[in-house]
Amino acid sequence: MNQSGLERRVRKAIRELEADGLRRTLQPPSGIDLSSNDYLGLAVHPLVKKNMAEAVLNEGCGSTGSRLLRGNREAFVHVERRFAKFKGAESSLYFGSGYAANLGVLSTFIERHDIVFSDEQNHASIIDGIRLSRAKRTKFPHCDVDRVAALLRSAPAGVQKFLITESLFSMDGDFAPLAEYADLCRETGTELIVDEAHAVGIYGKQGTGYVEHTGTGNGVFLTINTAGKAMGVAGAFVAGPEWATDFLIQRARSFIFSTAPPPPVAAALEASLDVIRDEPDRRTQLLQKCILLRGLLRESGLEVPASNSQIIPVILGDNQRATQAADELQREGFDVRALRPPTVPAGSARLRVTVNVGLDESTLRRFALALGKICSTVCS
Ligand SMILES: Cc1ncc(COP(=O)(O)O)c(C=O)c1O
Repeated sequence: MNQSGLERRVRKAIRELEADGLRRTLQPPSGIDLSSNDYLGLAVHPLVKKNMAEAVLNEGCGSTGSRLLRGNREAFVHVERRFAKFKGAESSLYFGSGYAANLGVLSTFIERHDIVFSDEQNHASIIDGIRLSRAKRTKFPHCDVDRVAALLRSAPAGVQKFLITESLFSMDGDFAPLAEYADLCRETGTELIVDEAHAVGIYGKQGTGYVEHTGTGNGVFLTINTAGKAMGVAGAFVAGPEWATDFLIQRARSFIFSTAPPPPVAAALEASLDVIRDEPDRRTQLLQKCILLRGLLRESGLEVPASNSQIIPVILGDNQRATQAADELQREGFDVRALRPPTVPAGSARLRVTVNVGLDESTLRRFALALGKICSTVCS
């Protein structure tokens, strides 16, 4: 059959991706998990599974409508109140995903003529949310406090300003200088929005995130707390003042014009919050394992960045090299994935290794040895 113009265009684009080593395929999990975001093992925790399963049996699967219509349930309202308390915020609102939360927050609060400063490594959902707001985005170099200070201080007075950052960066595994940002925002009347996607559940004494760890809660306008990573379930809580979550209910299109998540997800999140409160050893052990693996990788001759987080980038540069290393690790039984542009900047293709609390020391040792060998082969 003749190809349509569209089909030809698409096939050409796919061939170009292939040639650049950028074609993606969907692969199921296989082998030992060194790539998921289930850092605390909560996705398979017996209590989380039980709560969700019971809720399915009691309430059914789907919510049947938007939260503004028949899709609202007491389970959502309850878990939102509980999350707000946990986070030390006045209020929280639960979105179906972190992506939807960032789109909703940024397109709701930022108006076209506002000024937005955004870390150059911020997640795609932040970039897209700012795009939707139609405000001009000023990217600043990754975690560069001096540059942020200069930008904020020289921005015109009387214009609403926002500073947006992840707290723990999803691809680099390093932390934003939140204390410095909070001071600068206070000084310049800038609203600070922090995406805690990879930090919530792990950092801080109560495990509420890096905002807690740095004691910057008072200086932050809103946090976005993704619940599908360390919390092991799905969705995201936006936490902040009540007037702000109320406004999201009025205006956030990704909240309003979307079917509410399945109510059993709220039940699972209740259990996940219980486990974070009752099993603090999970996060302590996780952080010990992060330090151990980083040390082992260095012993294997790999360059590992200074941060001690659960996200360890092993940068190989070249797209094909990164894919080849990931394939070889898969063959050795380790599930590590290659990340390539546009997920990471061009020329910085990498393996994104993540630590989870279920990994034991001997596995980490075997993995570090295998990775050291594979990287020296693919880079030679
Ligand atoms: C920093 C950051 N923000 C937001 C998201 C989106 O969250 P979700 O996967 O729940 O849509 C991600 C997911 O990868 C992320 O890494």
